[in-house]
Amino acid sequence: MSTKPSRRAYVETYGCQMNISDGELMEGILERSGYDIVGRPEDADVVLVNTCAIREHAEKRVLGRVSQLNGLKRDRPEMVIGVTGCMAQRMGGTLLEEAPYVDIVMGPDGYRGLPETLDRLESGRREGSAPPPPESVGLAREGAGAGGIEVLRGGRKRGPQLAVLQLDMDENYQGLEQRRADGPSAWIPIQRGCDHRCTYCIVPYVRGGEKNRSAVEVVSEVRGLAEQGVTEITLLGQTVNSYVWEDVPFPELLKRVARVDGIRRVRFTSPHPRDVNEALAEVMATEAAVCEQLHLPAQAGNNRTLKRMLRRYTVETLLEKVDMVRSAVPDIALSTDIIVAFPGETDSEFRDTLDLMRTVRFDDAFTYKYSLRDGTPATRLPEGDFIDPDEAQARLAELIEVSRAIQNEINRDEVGRIEEVLIEGEGRDPGQVRGRTRRNKVVVFDGEAARMGAYTHARLERTTGATFVGSEVEAPERVTASA
Ligand code: 5AD
Ligand code: SF4
Repeated sequence: MSTKPSRRAYVETYGCQMNISDGELMEGILERSGYDIVGRPEDADVVLVNTCAIREHAEKRVLGRVSQLNGLKRDRPEMVIGVTGCMAQRMGGTLLEEAPYVDIVMGPDGYRGLPETLDRLESGRREGSAPPPPESVGLAREGAGAGGIEVLRGGRKRGPQLAVLQLDMDENYQGLEQRRADGPSAWIPIQRGCDHRCTYCIVPYVRGGEKNRSAVEVVSEVRGLAEQGVTEITLLGQTVNSYVWEDVPFPELLKRVARVDGIRRVRFTSPHPRDVNEALAEVMATEAAVCEQLHLPAQAGNNRTLKRMLRRYTVETLLEKVDMVRSAVPDIALSTDIIVAFPGETDSEFRDTLDLMRTVRFDDAFTYKYSLRDGTPATRLPEGDFIDPDEAQARLAELIEVSRAIQNEINRDEVGRIEEVLIEGEGRDPGQVRGRTRRNKVVVFDGEAARMGAYTHARLERTTGATFVGSEVEAPERVTASA
């Protein structure tokens, strides 16, 4: 039994679903080693900021937040600030120099050893840090020791700083459970890292290559969650549908998860278009629990751009995949990610992307301006290729306008439909609840928030464009595809 007084930890997460899931993983690891997880940094002895590196904007926001949290150290100098995740991995020691009040930087493969790293910091602080040699500027490094922990000594005023930045070919966090909030839905990481090298993307460099979890363990985790009342599962991975474990490819895992007793909805994100195949379409069409929804990141609608992005598909093959999933699941809702102003993208190539949007008619689109990420292949493109920020902004605005208009039209056509809704929480106004349809559309309607986790039916009464206002109705005998 531990004799240590209990310590309190707070984890604040930025970025994608995978990162949110990593935040839950860290909470689980800390809780099992005796920490209390608290909901506010003010109440915590250890504050971890779990960061994203996908775009520069995401990093700037986090740096601002970390410096704000440093304010809490004024009254409690013993408080520990750790920066974890993709930005920590990307910046490493530079972050410790730029933000000397940060005690730990830890990349995405270091979480298993988080409690030991915190203990190490504590004992380093007790020993006191060695005074720096007079001529030293910056940090003295001791090199990576046990668990890949690198100790950096920042001088008398600054305590030791620790860096855990080794990427691990095998770390898939098998056997470690996340700390999940109560609720009907759970996100399950089945894969970490990525074997692609899209030329704009930092992910393979901060999360390493693709590592898949055992299918047996994934299914048993889903069973355990179902027994605790979870009914909706989202399988997570950077290229989730390239998952393979022994002789279990992704469509087979999806089928096994969909067949677990008690699971009513299964989703997965994000698939790579290249690995969307007949087998996957077949499982989506035949397994009742797999939702009629697919996120299909296109990134661009021009073949020269796709090639220079190293996306490994063409517009034509992408459209074939869209046709294939639509003929398997006629009512499927499709969403996408698009990057505009990739270096060298001409205006006419950008217009091809607009054409793709008009051809496919995605239900939803996440749209981004290209953001330069140091260390990625696209940074080596000729300097003249980088697109003027005003032009990039104009392209983004045009893309958003086109995709919103399409979304509005699609959703207006859906008004009148009766849809199964899973109640997820409170709506914005009192007395309202917010839920999601199988096709991943948000609906608010009058109801009691206490019914979170319940399945009901709602008629879609009107749309705000992106979401719906509905009214609860009796379950129809058979839900028709259209009104
Ligand atoms: N610049 C802009 N957007 C990016 N994404 C990934 N890397 C970059 C970058 N350097 C986008 C892609 C991806 C989504 C998660 O983020 O569209 O699908
Ligand atoms: Fe990044 Fe491409 Fe991998 Fe997606 S598939 S994480 S965009 S490298």
